[in-house]
Amino acid sequence: MIKIGIIGQGFIGKMHLATLRKSSLAVVTAVADREPSNLEGKAVAGNIDVAGDISLEGVARYEDGDALLRDPNVEAVLIALPTYMHKEYILKAAGAGKHILCEKPLTLSSAEGRDVLEALNGYDRVFMSAQCIRFWPVYVEARKYVLGGVYGNLLSAQFTRQSCKPTWSWQNWLLDDTKSGGALLDLHIHDVDYVNCLLGTPDQVNAIGCDMPGEGVSQVNACFRYANGPVVAVDGGWMHPADFPFRMGFRMEFEQAAVEFDSRIDGNLHVYPAGGGHLTPELLPGDGYSREHEYFLRCILEGKKAEEASPESAVASVALVERERACIRSTAGA
Ligand SMILES: NC(=O)c1ccc[n+]([C@@H]2O[C@H](COP(=O)([O-])OP(=O)(O)OC[C@H]3O[C@@H](n4cnc5c(N)ncnc54)[C@H](O)[C@@H]3O)[C@@H](O)[C@H]2O)c1
Repeated sequence: MIKIGIIGQGFIGKMHLATLRKSSLAVVTAVADREPSNLEGKAVAGNIDVAGDISLEGVARYEDGDALLRDPNVEAVLIALPTYMHKEYILKAAGAGKHILCEKPLTLSSAEGRDVLEALNGYDRVFMSAQCIRFWPVYVEARKYVLGGVYGNLLSAQFTRQSCKPTWSWQNWLLDDTKSGGALLDLHIHDVDYVNCLLGTPDQVNAIGCDMPGEGVSQVNACFRYANGPVVAVDGGWMHPADFPFRMGFRMEFEQAAVEFDSRIDGNLHVYPAGGGHLTPELLPGDGYSREHEYFLRCILEGKKAEEASPESAVASVALVERERACIRSTAGA
């Protein structure tokens, strides 16, 4: 059992706690949070429900991440802090010799990301980015079709991710563009990262977006073109009222099938082959969080690098978001 500490017990820190509790490979030995009320083992607000055991009985509790990093009973850390603190805590966790799983986006900018990559070059522990969509069973299934050519070439794809406005974060950091990068970097990066891993860096990026004063790009519609490859459209944002239910989904048109996933309908991948019919293939068990944990923990146990969610690829996704932002903020048009 790997002894793991979680730095940050806000929305996603609680999600990780509840999920890790079900793992047979790890035990949560410590948590840290600046807010004493977040160390009481109670639920906090977020845009999806955290189900499961979030009690903190028998778990060491610290009032900041630095104290947790000094705990010898912690071998691996999960950084679930506001994005603007990621770089600082990745470097501190590496200084303390811990295995590191850091929430997405890996850093607030690709420049910060490159600093981290340089500082951790040759680091002999596992260092992985928690880009959970890469591990989400329905996305994993669709990736199989793209990479395996199961239904011929991919011709076009559309991705969407929409949330209510995140008014719940610690000191309202999510609604401060300088701390979160806005919905563009915080929410939409999930799909940008998936597309980037699936198809590589696009040859051309176009994007329009709703740039809110102080809050950053809060809604985005982007289009990625690949020479001799598919056309990809990605939209995302968090400008909706509080009761708007979270939604993620995608559609892909292949030469010999169309596939669709819409979290508002169900968790299935719906496949419509060109020859007729409708299939819902069996998906891998678990969700993106449990599967990313299992991958991270197996990398530690087997002494492997975390190739499936490498920090290098996570920095490339941040850089792609920056291309979108530059496009949105440029005054040029045709
Ligand atoms: N993978 C996903 O699906 C997903 C979902 C939500 C958030 N995230 C990412 O997770 C990170 C955290 O987001 P969140 O929504 O949980 O934010 P949050 O505001 O709910 O939680 C952050 C927590 O960090 C604590 N904190 C601040 N400084 C600290 C310190 N020095 N030591 C210890 N704790 C400290 C705060 O008290 C707060 O509880 C962000 O990078 C975000 O992008 C990922």
